[in-house]
Amino acid sequence: IGEPATTKPYDYILKFLSSSSFPSRASFPSDFLFGTGSSALQIEGAGHEGGRGLGIWDDIVNQHKDVYGDVDKFPKKIEHYKRYKEDVQLLKRLGVNSYRMSISWSRVMPNGTLEGGINKEGINFYNNLINELLENGIEPFVTILHFDYPLALKQKFGGFLNHSIVKHYKDYSELLFKTYGDRVKYWTTINEVEVTSIFQYMLNIDNISTDEECKTTRKCTLSYTLLHNFLLAHASTSKLYRTKFQAIQGGEIGLVLSSGCYVPYSSKLEDVAATQRLMDFYWGWILDPVFHGNYPKIMRKLVGNRLPKFTKKEKKMLKGSTNFIGINYYTSHFAIYEPNRTKSIGDSYDALARSEVFNEEGKPLGYKDQYAWNYVYPEGLYNMLLYIKDKYKNPKVYITENGVASTKIPNPLKDEHRIAYIAAHINATKAAIDDGANVRGYFAWAAFDTFEFQAGYSGNWGLYHVDFNDNLKRIPTDAAKWYRKYLTHDLRD
Ligand code: NOJ
Repeated sequence: IGEPATTKPYDYILKFLSSSSFPSRASFPSDFLFGTGSSALQIEGAGHEGGRGLGIWDDIVNQHKDVYGDVDKFPKKIEHYKRYKEDVQLLKRLGVNSYRMSISWSRVMPNGTLEGGINKEGINFYNNLINELLENGIEPFVTILHFDYPLALKQKFGGFLNHSIVKHYKDYSELLFKTYGDRVKYWTTINEVEVTSIFQYMLNIDNISTDEECKTTRKCTLSYTLLHNFLLAHASTSKLYRTKFQAIQGGEIGLVLSSGCYVPYSSKLEDVAATQRLMDFYWGWILDPVFHGNYPKIMRKLVGNRLPKFTKKEKKMLKGSTNFIGINYYTSHFAIYEPNRTKSIGDSYDALARSEVFNEEGKPLGYKDQYAWNYVYPEGLYNMLLYIKDKYKNPKVYITENGVASTKIPNPLKDEHRIAYIAAHINATKAAIDDGANVRGYFAWAAFDTFEFQAGYSGNWGLYHVDFNDNLKRIPTDAAKWYRKYLTHDLRD
């Protein structure tokens, strides 16, 4: 799309959209998944109904009323649990062929363990939802764990900080494969593994970090422990699926990671090296183990023994433990070498680097969307897709999330900036495919306005706006209308 230079650069993209160079739906393969998504905790509601047990997020929200505001709203969400049929019709109306959803562990196994019992009502809810989707021509693309899991597991033994979670996660996943695997063909084990680890134990966002060592010394060992157990849970569940279910059920299994691309802050060699280190500390942290069986060498060198070690058996289990990679892409950053980190922002202290929004000449990456919370840089998505292609032998990739909030927009239905955002990233995806990246799907985030993990209800992410003052009415935004048109017609007609 080039370098739009106006103050409202999405005007530029909107013009580009109706030109013949914009890739039409038909220019993607017909089996390419075009979808949208959500997660159980963010939309279901019925937090205390249907036999659901408490999840770790019930606890986090309760403990941080200052961040999340109206805590009473929390268990209700947008009542998707009760209104799922209506919601599936809304998805159908969008013209998507796939829907990324997640299952709530606390709803199907309220105590987190098999011994603690299975909740039939919860099982039935997902049976009904999956059937409803399929009957309406929509493939469910299912996340097994999207941030939330039973509080009982955290209270009993520290949750994912303890290796014993791996067995329980595997039991829970096995229940899902047995129950839904005849119909679900796309599984992802864990959403944004690195975000969860960093969010809970490295970042000190609003004091949510519970790791005292991290707050005081910045040696955030718990993050590494948490991610280590996530990877082992992923690998052992993936092995289970691939040995016991895949041949019969014919589906595929992957994991989802987030974080943007990094671009050197300046042409200084130390910034260029810091950029590569950040990629290794974010992407390599997960992708090296799942493709090569171990963490990147540079992590071992800089983190030393605080980075846990895999046994030989675990390395073998991890290597090649994924059929595809899901990428959640939102924005990118400049990377700058900083040997003495002091600020508490979202980069790895151990990488001796931090990210910046502006480069040394004061220029941002991409353009600032006046209604969004971040800078828009579709080239970052392209660059990442090509980076993964070259570094990890061109694995299958799904863009499992990409979208923009409209926090300050005067009328939530007039989200032209979202049309521009989605279109620009679809364009970047197509360019990456044309250059050889093995991308198989794109999911716009999110289907509906939802509860946001870091911000409660303050941002609207949905293609369908939800009116909290009018019985949670779902209303299609302009972006929803555009997406529908894009998926079902040729925009140039
Ligand atoms: C990624 C998370 O997976 C999702 O749950 C969240 O709503 C979006 N980012 C937006 O912050």
